[in-house]
Amino acid sequence: MSDKLDEARELARTGLERINRTTSVEALDALDSELLGKRSRLTEMRAGLRDADPRERKELGRALNEARHTLDEAVSARREELAAEALRTELLAEGRDLTEALGRARVGHQHPITLTWERLEDVFVGMGFTVEDGPEVETDWFNFEALNLPAAHPARSLWDTLYVDAGEESTERGEVLLRTHTSPVQVRTMLRAAAVGTGPPIYVVCPGRVYRRDTADATHLPVFHQIEGLVVDRGTSMGDLAGTIEEFTKAYFGESLTSRLRPSYFPFTEPSAEVDISQPDGSWLEVGGCGMVHPNVLVHCGLDPEEWSGFAFGFGIDRLAKIRHGISDLRELVANDMRFLEQF
Ligand code: PHE
Repeated sequence: MSDKLDEARELARTGLERINRTTSVEALDALDSELLGKRSRLTEMRAGLRDADPRERKELGRALNEARHTLDEAVSARREELAAEALRTELLAEGRDLTEALGRARVGHQHPITLTWERLEDVFVGMGFTVEDGPEVETDWFNFEALNLPAAHPARSLWDTLYVDAGEESTERGEVLLRTHTSPVQVRTMLRAAAVGTGPPIYVVCPGRVYRRDTADATHLPVFHQIEGLVVDRGTSMGDLAGTIEEFTKAYFGESLTSRLRPSYFPFTEPSAEVDISQPDGSWLEVGGCGMVHPNVLVHCGLDPEEWSGFAFGFGIDRLAKIRHGISDLRELVANDMRFLEQF
């Protein structure tokens, strides 16, 4: 009898060693069925318990259960290790950042741009705006022409444009391009309101991705994000615009920060201004542009400038994230370094 007890303990001991030496999931599966399957020595001994001396049956039964339990646990633990090793090897082969494979499991969360985007939507929805979006691949007409920037307009050089070779698809509305700002969504929104016959008032914000032929540096990315605001109503004024921007600044950054408008030029607004937001250290950071919607834009969109007026603004979402989180270099946002991303 004590032979059988010894054998049960020996089975657990050698089994454990062999499990921990496996180097592949396939080898582990085979060993699993060899040690614990229907034809294993453990199963056979369990069946043999019937014939054992009733006084010793209990002790042997317990030893067999223990051996099975030990081996079972060891197989599960080894299976997890092998899976983690396989992932690590795969990541290495792809040259990906290994920090995500090291150590404990990680709970995913949203990217700082997404967080900022969603907070901005929340603030503007709280101020009574609705959210619109539009296509990233646009035509020249929506991105420029309708916005009072005809083909030869010198101000076009303010937007280094990436064009898309759309072959036959290029429409009568001009060349196909990656939108350089979210302002074409203004045009689409006004056209829709005019076409549906509901017309203004319009109070919308349009967050989205935009593209420019730019080299990435600490303050520029060739692919970045803007949030456009558009209000069209009766009797809107520059004061309404300044008040809206100030209200937004306080709601988003807190009561201690403030905004200022600096005279500027955009073809689609008149007058136009740059929007700066005060920094805790007393300096100002430019976050975007704004102005009163140019009458030509209203006309292009089927609205009568005698009846309607409006204002628009466009902020850089990445810049707002930079200010709010004290990010020193915008390139951090796209470098996929877990040590950076984990801070949000
Ligand atoms: N579209 C402008 C830009 O990208 C910003 C802007 C939006 C200016 C709305 C005025 C009104 O630079």
